[in-house]
Amino acid sequence: MACKSVLFVTLGFLLSFCSTAKVNKHFFPQNFKIGVANAAAQIEGAWNEDGKGETIWDRFAMSRPERIFDHSSPQVAADSYHKWREDVEMVKEMGVDHYRLSIAWARIYPDGYKTEEPNAKGVAYYKNLLRSLRALGIEPMVTLYHWDLPQKLQDDFGGWLSPKIVDIFADYARTCFELFGDEVKWWITINEPKQICEAGYGTGVFAPGIVSPGVGNYKCAKNVLLAHAKAYHIYDKEFRKKNQGKVAIVIDSNWSEPASAKPEDQEASERALQFTYGLYGNPVFNGDWPAVVKERVAQRSKQAGLKESRLPALTKEEIKLIKGTHDFLCINHYTSHMVSAWYEAPVTDTSLTADIGVNDWMPKEWPRGGEGWFSVWAPGMRKLLNWLKNTYNNPEIVITENGLSDNTGTLEDDHRINYYRDYLSNCLDAIYIDNVNLTGYTAWSILDDWEWSTGYHSLIGMYKVDFNDLTGLGFLGSLLHTSPKSPRTAAWQKILENVYIKQK
Ligand SMILES: *[C@@H]1O[C@H](CO)[C@@H](O)[C@H](O)[C@H]1NC(C)=O
Ligand SMILES: *[C@@H]1O[C@H](CO)[C@@H](O)[C@H](O)[C@H]1NC(C)=O
Repeated sequence: MACKSVLFVTLGFLLSFCSTAKVNKHFFPQNFKIGVANAAAQIEGAWNEDGKGETIWDRFAMSRPERIFDHSSPQVAADSYHKWREDVEMVKEMGVDHYRLSIAWARIYPDGYKTEEPNAKGVAYYKNLLRSLRALGIEPMVTLYHWDLPQKLQDDFGGWLSPKIVDIFADYARTCFELFGDEVKWWITINEPKQICEAGYGTGVFAPGIVSPGVGNYKCAKNVLLAHAKAYHIYDKEFRKKNQGKVAIVIDSNWSEPASAKPEDQEASERALQFTYGLYGNPVFNGDWPAVVKERVAQRSKQAGLKESRLPALTKEEIKLIKGTHDFLCINHYTSHMVSAWYEAPVTDTSLTADIGVNDWMPKEWPRGGEGWFSVWAPGMRKLLNWLKNTYNNPEIVITENGLSDNTGTLEDDHRINYYRDYLSNCLDAIYIDNVNLTGYTAWSILDDWEWSTGYHSLIGMYKVDFNDLTGLGFLGSLLHTSPKSPRTAAWQKILENVYIKQK
């Protein structure tokens, strides 16, 4: 695709980009919320300071560094535990409405289990952060669980593989609602169950590194849903009246574009979506697992000679507990894939991929995200929003993550600006042309972070972080409070301010 320069005549400035589609020039509605995000384990560092317990990601990265692309760990990350005031400044500078952050469970309860008193220093850290944001008129959106399970819970009973986790998570959630309920009106229980369960307990490429394809991932899925549901009901019964907040679960999904209009390719697309968003979305919005997921896993289990489906059943009571536990729908979306019908994989292959049973690829014509793992195809955003609207009965939708990584470290990040412009443009199409009830958008990420198994190799921040400075100076760096975070570009702000500015 040819790159061209486009002059926004009315705006009087020049942006250079590869145009993928006509840019929607609507403004976002007045009450639309635009924000930026990050998560505790990816930015805080201070992994064992002030009473914080070890997490599965600390253990995963430090015990076997070769599992992380650059052999790094979250020990220091962007040092936000010490430099949080700079983070707040950056969020303020961005001029956004909200900041999505997460609480590290192991800072509140170091071993994960509820104790008589939560860890005072951990509590103080989040209170200061939340109050500072609110004082500036920035609404915090707070995730209770963004992948950093206290290691003790993994060691004691297998973490998300055991139903024991459900009540222990619920206790932790109640404590957070109690402690921070005055400051927080937007609660996210759990972030991206697909990654927690499939990568953590299926393929094992994420912490805690359990390899149990087609078994562990589904057990985990059930426990995650029950934990989310319990936390939701606790808020509903004990806190909603007083705190007037909203609670939801964040589910991630790619868009699966059917390769052709042939019915089998259309079905392949629907099946892929039901196995990713639907696996979690259907129980929460419609009750029970999606029919196609239930049928396929049961059938493939039976053909393999198993007495029961690898997908654990949800009882009537469990369905009732989970169904309806949403105040809005959240979607994390980064990339699209093309899908077509596939031959049936041998039933001895129990992987999620085989259960889904579609041919899945990134077409050559779609530009790659910085490191080649993602493809950039902005229409997928609009199509996914429409699918969510139609599949879940037109709910209020908030995009809780969207963004583009690279590994250049450049401050000239036109590719990222273009990505945001095109994805935001498709959001506007969804709102104004398709009547999707999209009420918020959150960009990932405010600053470069520790991107899990890709470590510091993936750079995805709107602010560049000089990790060499941070890690090089080590303890001294924290003391000096040097300013290793510098804005990657001012153009994102120009986009927000001039192209998509909300009418105020
Ligand atoms: C989306 O695709 C990427 C690869 O491009 C993959 O790593 C990720 O797990 C997929 N996300 C979901 C929710 O399936
Ligand atoms: C969108 O959702 C919000 C929150 O549920 C609701 O108040 C509003 O009426 C909805 N808007 C439309 C156009 O459906």
